[in-house]
Amino acid sequence: MATERTFLAIKPDGVQRGLVGEILGRFERKGFKLVGLKQLVPSRELAESHYGVHRERPFFAGLVAFITSGPVVAMVWEGDGVIASARKLIGATKPLEAEPGTIRGDLAVNIGRNVIHGSDAPETADFEIGLWFQPSELCEWTPADQVWRV
Ligand code: TYD
Repeated sequence: MATERTFLAIKPDGVQRGLVGEILGRFERKGFKLVGLKQLVPSRELAESHYGVHRERPFFAGLVAFITSGPVVAMVWEGDGVIASARKLIGATKPLEAEPGTIRGDLAVNIGRNVIHGSDAPETADFEIGLWFQPSELCEWTPADQVWRV
């Protein structure tokens, strides 16, 4: 399994509900490496680009209004198979269909307030990382267990 990067974002409902630490901890404990992290209120332009594939859908306007309504915690995580694995940890789009044990299964009810976004494929991960982060905002680092391993 190749080492790859994915883009994750804790949506305004997750930030407002104080779930940032809980969510970061799940990815840390899984064993993935955090290489980018910032909090921002997304511009309309950023939100519309991010969700551009949904531009014609009836929920698009409400989705953009929600994502731009408050702080979002944007993240880049790295690890073997992290794109698909993060989607599993996040759970199904509809929280009532998300398995218990997943973030949405444990922490959400409503599809329009489903706490977290995760890239769904390598191409979207590349696009979303480039959209939300400058290359200089991403941190190359070696976890200590590898530094100290002999
Ligand atoms: P989508 O990319 O289908 O799901 P996911 O976030 O699991 O990749 O949809 C993007 C977001 O749009 C989704 O997280 C919540 C919102 N959404 C709605 O509000 N109503 C809907 O019917 C759908 C399909 C999505």
